[in-house]
Amino acid sequence: MREKLLPYGRQSLDEDDIQSVVETLRSDWLTTGPKVGEFEEAFADWVGARHAVSFSSGTAALHGAAFAAGVGPGDEVVTTPLTFCATANCVLYQGATPVFADVADDTLNLDPRKVAKKISPCTKAIIAVDYAGHPAALDELRRIAEKTGAVLIEDACHALGAEFHGKRVGSLADMTVFSFHPVKHLTTGEGGMVTTDSPRLAETLRRFRNHGISSEARDRQEAGQWFYEMVLLGFNYRLTDIACALGLSQMGKLEANLTRRREIAREYARAFRDFPGVETDADFPVTLPAVREGVNPAWHLYPIRLNLEALSVGRSEIFRALRAENIGVNVHYIPVHLHPYYRERFPVTAREGSFPIAESAYERLISLPMFHAMSDEDVSDVVRAIHKVIGYYVKDERLHALESGHSGYKHV
Ligand SMILES: Cc1ncc(COP(=O)(O)O)c(C=O)c1O
Repeated sequence: MREKLLPYGRQSLDEDDIQSVVETLRSDWLTTGPKVGEFEEAFADWVGARHAVSFSSGTAALHGAAFAAGVGPGDEVVTTPLTFCATANCVLYQGATPVFADVADDTLNLDPRKVAKKISPCTKAIIAVDYAGHPAALDELRRIAEKTGAVLIEDACHALGAEFHGKRVGSLADMTVFSFHPVKHLTTGEGGMVTTDSPRLAETLRRFRNHGISSEARDRQEAGQWFYEMVLLGFNYRLTDIACALGLSQMGKLEANLTRRREIAREYARAFRDFPGVETDADFPVTLPAVREGVNPAWHLYPIRLNLEALSVGRSEIFRALRAENIGVNVHYIPVHLHPYYRERFPVTAREGSFPIAESAYERLISLPMFHAMSDEDVSDVVRAIHKVIGYYVKDERLHALESGHSGYKHV
């Protein structure tokens, strides 16, 4: 057993990251300065989009995308229930209604056939989530969006660096949203970004994150002008120069971070192909994350699903036993429609049983530790603990006969 808890995700910062923040702290601009544009340009370039607009968080970036898509009262936005609540909340911020569609059983991403069924004359946008870092079915969703006039927003908060048929996510939807929370591939503490190829959307996003003001403070200062106008109702959702300096420095490590995450995913997949004592597919105790043809995931998370039929206990016992081994497993996610706020606000559409694939996945999901700073030893610790705990609870009389006298898993 490990001595210290291995978290499911964690940032890694080097001395040069710290140095670039310190340099900005000593500069003239703590916010609305040159680092913002530099970070946005480098980011747009890396993901292959024409424009990148930074925000103070992924949540603020989603709000900006919903606003720029023109989502407003009376509109509907189709999205997935199997996500962090911020994905759907941005629709509510705009006074519109989130309409959930169930996910596909392999990737747990929005199922385009279910999306098509939820399109109505009120549908203004579709928000797809790249769950765990596996891109959504973007080509089919794009076809639905084009046919119905909906704006396609990709919540790629899990998927910076993921590839879909040879292209990085960032320019495959009308707008793509990223998060720079510490558990992500790159961090600015809190932070987010929207990328787009549309100059019109980029301009709206820039204004929205700056109170709806039509010009930037630094441009006015450099031009020796004071005059500005507010042209729409925006917010202060700006990302500081301090954060952007960190983001720029972290970008230099992005490729290496992705490579490491992909190595860890490969090692997990290799190690969990076998379980001690498990001989047939029917007894196999876990389902590993699927990777579709033509996709290279970014592995923000490594969510396994427990095959409860092959196990003698439920998810909570396995979760507790893994935590007792100091493996910081987590669960992503409680389906959004099952949160008390959504149940109360949408008693008809947010009922339990409405989205059976997402709900069944939720009962079985456990996210294993996955972050780029994990050492080989950390990975081995996770593998050993999973084999030990899940192997113990496999419904196999032959295995349990060896443990006679045991009434349960011993947390030692
Ligand atoms: C899918 C998804 N969307 C949006 C967000 C919100 O991002 P942030 O925490 O940067 O506000 C998260 C956060 O982890 C997320 O997982």
